This record gives sequence, C-alpha cells and structure tokens, in this order.
Amino acid sequence: MFKRFRRLRTNESIRSLVRETVITKDDLIYPLFIKSGENFKKEIDSMPGVFQFSIDKVLIEIEDVVSKGIKAVILFGIPQTKDSIGSDALDNHGIIATALRAIKEKFPDLYVITDLCFCEYTDHGHCGIINSDEDVDNDSTLEILAKQALVHLEAGADMLAPSGMMDGTIETLREALDLNGYENTPIMAYSTKFASGYYGPFRDVAESTPTFGDRRKYQMDPANINEAVNESIEDEMQGADILMVKPALAYLDVVRAIKEKTSLPMCVYNVSGEYAMLKNAGAEGLIDYERVMMETMIGFKRAGADLIITYHAKEVCDLLD
Ligand code: PBG
Ligand code: ZN
Repeated sequence: MFKRFRRLRTNESIRSLVRETVITKDDLIYPLFIKSGENFKKEIDSMPGVFQFSIDKVLIEIEDVVSKGIKAVILFGIPQTKDSIGSDALDNHGIIATALRAIKEKFPDLYVITDLCFCEYTDHGHCGIINSDEDVDNDSTLEILAKQALVHLEAGADMLAPSGMMDGTIETLREALDLNGYENTPIMAYSTKFASGYYGPFRDVAESTPTFGDRRKYQMDPANINEAVNESIEDEMQGADILMVKPALAYLDVVRAIKEKTSLPMCVYNVSGEYAMLKNAGAEGLIDYERVMMETMIGFKRAGADLIITYHAKEVCDLLD
C-alpha cells in the first residue's frame, strides 16, 4: 500500500516544506474610499470593517495600513458634487487629486494605485459620458479618461487601474502617458470585468449605483470565458502591464485560463460582495472567518493570481504575523 502523499502530511514542518502555494504581504493591495469633507470616518453597513474616510482621516488609516506591512493601496473617490461628465475627476483639486498629494507627501514610499473610471463622479452613476440613447459613449469617454489619468499622475499616482471597460482604453492611456513623460508608469487593466451582482456593497460605499439601466452593455457576460481570455489578450497587445479578473471567487477558472494564454502578471479583485459574504457569515458564527479568509486567498494564488486586491488585506497581515 503506497502512503507517499500521507507521509508528506505527517507534521507541520514537512507540510510547510512541500507547500505549493503561499500568501505573503507582497501579494496584497488594500482599497481605500476617500470622501470630501473633514474629520469624517463612516463604516459601511454592508461591509463591516470598511469605511469612507475624509482625507485627514485616511492619513491616519494609512499609518495603520503601512504598519501592518501593506505596500500598495488602490484609491476610490467620492466627490462632493457629481455631474453628467464627472468633472471632479478631471479637476486638479478634485477629491482623488487632493488625496494623492496629501498621501504622497506623508507616505512617499507607499505604492498608490488609482481606480480610473467615472461612475463614482457622475450623477447618473455610469462609467462614462452618456449619449442620447442612454448608452455610454465609448470614444468621448476615452478622451476624458486620458485627462483623468494625467490629473492622477500629476498628483502623484504610481499606477493607474482603468476599470470602465471601454474599448481601446489601454491603447489610449498608454499613448497619453508616453506623450506626457510617464513612459515608466504601469497600467493595470481591469481587463476582464464581469457584469456582476457581487459589486452591490461597493456601489453603496462609492455611492455609484446607476440611476437608470445597468452596466451590462460594457461589462462582460459571466457566461463567457473565451471572450474573457480574448479581452485580456487584447489588453496585453495594447500595452497593459498587469491584467485583472474581477470578481474573483466565481471566476477562478477564468484566472487560470488567462494565466495560461498571456504572460503578464495577474491580479484578482476580491470584490465587495465576496468580502461581505465572509464577514457576515463569520459574524453570524456560520463559518470560521479567519480560516475561510486564508483559504480564499490561497485559492486565488493557486488559480494563478500574483496580486490580490482585497478588503481583507489588513486582517490577512495580522494572521501572517
Ligand atoms: C468602478 C468599480 C467598481 C468596482 C471597482 N471599480 C464597481 C462597478 O463596476 O460597479 C467594484 C469593486 C467591488 O465590488 O469591491 N468601475
Ligand atoms: Zn465605473
């Protein structure tokens, strides 16, 4: 009787020596939601442990984030006023530009990624400029997206993560960056973003639920893996530096497929609804929260992810310590 596999499980030392997948703090990117105002920190009902912060408060939060060993954050902004084209996102004194300057002044070594999109800034909640048919207009949105990119870069962003799923995004941004002296700034493409119910809690935090329609015309059908792979290959060809699959949990086959068909680092976005499920099940005593959280992180890496954007990042660091 062969017992080869069992022999390698006999104690914790040998288990860790032969472990195929590990999670480290370097794998993690922590999302932060920044809202205009002062002395403001509000927990999100549907996402216990996740807050909206004013800029002064986010600086305090980042102390904690950095002290836990997290090296990268991704910023989302909630502006004071929203309008039809999301002007706050194009303004050097808008919420994200202002936050970036404050953060970079205090934490020059923190790697700061910004989410590039308009849904948090438009009064209709869609990811770009709306045309007369109530559709997002791809090409005029690309023009303002390039402007948003430069606003973020001038304010100190280290990497851009365009999340709006417009066609030609990467090519447009790469060209704008290169022309303006940002040849060395990477772009992380939200290359495979599915039209998902898992974003529900995020839209509460970001105050970005569309006032009409939904995002199915520009986000992908959850049923399509070939299309997902093709979108990623397309973004790789257009010059993306990192590819992303979002959401993560229900799409790990997609992560693996893209990993095999492209050669770029892969990120997964462990989205708001995924976080909320674990958090709330843990709080109800239905699952062992910490154990399930770590198992989930390992699952992402085993599927082929190199990076994980996750609201659990601080807790993962605590457990790794
Ligand atoms: C903006 C954006 C969304 C998320 C990240 N960037 C929401 C959306 O497309 O509605 C979702 C993240 C999450 O659910 O945690 N385009
Ligand atoms: Zn958007």
